[in-house]
Amino acid sequence: MVPLKRRKVANSGTLNAGTHNSAATQPNKFPQVILFLLERKMGASRRAFLSQLGRRKGFQVEELFSKNVTHVICESNTAQEARMWLEAQGAGQAGRHLLDVSWYTESMRDGHPVEILDRHKLQQTPGGTVHLLMNDSEVTPFSVPGYACQRRCTLENHNAVLTDALSLLAENAELSDEDGRGVAFRRAAAVLKALPSAVTNMSQLTGLPCLGGHSLRVIKDILENGTSSEVESTKESERFKALKVLTGIFGVGSKTADRWIREGIHNLQQLRDSGQTLNRAQQAGLEHYDDIKQPVSLAEAEAIRGIVGRAVASVSPEAQIVLTGGFRRGKLTGHDVDFLITHPEEGSEVGLMPKLVSWLESRVSCHLQNVLLICDVIFLLMFALFCRFSLCCFIDKQTRRWRAVRVDLVVSPISQFAFALLGWTGSKLFERELRRWAGHEKGMSLSSHALYDNKQGRYIRASSEEEIFAHLGLEFIPPNERNA
Ligand code: UTP
Ligand code: MN
Repeated sequence: MVPLKRRKVANSGTLNAGTHNSAATQPNKFPQVILFLLERKMGASRRAFLSQLGRRKGFQVEELFSKNVTHVICESNTAQEARMWLEAQGAGQAGRHLLDVSWYTESMRDGHPVEILDRHKLQQTPGGTVHLLMNDSEVTPFSVPGYACQRRCTLENHNAVLTDALSLLAENAELSDEDGRGVAFRRAAAVLKALPSAVTNMSQLTGLPCLGGHSLRVIKDILENGTSSEVESTKESERFKALKVLTGIFGVGSKTADRWIREGIHNLQQLRDSGQTLNRAQQAGLEHYDDIKQPVSLAEAEAIRGIVGRAVASVSPEAQIVLTGGFRRGKLTGHDVDFLITHPEEGSEVGLMPKLVSWLESRVSCHLQNVLLICDVIFLLMFALFCRFSLCCFIDKQTRRWRAVRVDLVVSPISQFAFALLGWTGSKLFERELRRWAGHEKGMSLSSHALYDNKQGRYIRASSEEEIFAHLGLEFIPPNERNA
């Protein structure tokens, strides 16, 4: 029960708020003054507070920058920084005042735009405060080599906000079958990932490779406004969301997802209701969607390694199995678990995959049942019969629950093992860049099977990753530094 007195107070409060609101929407009292507050260094919340204050006093304060803006208000920026920002907006300084926030606050205090004095104008160089000097001395340009396979890139990323944004645009391009654009964004993200510290100023990026106009615009937007409008609108777009959900189903690629979207299918329920014919992989993918979406932990990867390792040992005692993919690069989670299997005797790996698959099909469920005493269906998916196999299996998650996990198995003859190991360790961009380097710089063709010298017209043998790097004239980069 709210006491009567309190309710009265609340009512009068509401009334006050009403009058207050009409004051907030006061018409522009100074039509020749159109203000814009630069968020950079001022911060979003202070900018919002000051903007609101101005509007209440009858000033026109623009949320978005436009050519009509007459006064740009900055805090702790130099004239040069403000001009660079204006240029990035496709506008110059011509006819505009670049003013310090002190002009703004004094105008608010006096209730009208005060006369612009010299002290209100932005300084050419960071003159006044230690803070500005420190900011400027932080601006050291970065430098990195042009190919990702020449760079050491651990999992440490000082520019995650920027690289997440670019990766999202890359993903959107890839899902829309615009691979060229996708690679451009991936390369730009990889350059930022390789930097030794966070980017704070666009001028630090001068001379860096792989940063195209589009990526630079996105970076600039984020450095100056905290977010990129393009990234935000992509993230929220119905098409992107639908593509993400549908291609998240094991066995569904971007072409299928695109066809479904054109038929009005945007989510799993609509897919289930649509009566679309799904192949075996897709049926399984849909059924275990939540499990497969959930990242695989290193502990789970090791548990699976145990199961697959026992399977391999049973069908071919001397065969060896190696964990590749992201886990070999030191990642603690992955979207799947990748294994490479080989046999020390060339030729003995032939027929290993079918044997392994039938062993798993017939025994894994029993084996897990015995261990976990839980009865559930195990299904295995034949993905590619030749030398690669993708399966979904169920493992113990200590919760005594079984869950579906994607496992990628590859068998390689020992003569190709080093190439397969290098090729399946990733990252995807690192691999792509290795092949680009080989082709463009060395006149060679690199794959997960071999290295071919195009000029000499012959294959180059290698029995270790180190040898392959040496043949390519590259410094050896260990797996944990291939996280491009
Ligand atoms: P993944 O897609 O498994 O990547 O491919 P990842 O780095 O392990 O990522 P997470 O941790 O699972 O999310 C691993 C390697 O296999 C190669 C890729 O180039 C990558 O280097 N690969 C993957 C192929 O060569 N062909 C394919 O069809 C898939
Ligand atoms: Mn993987």
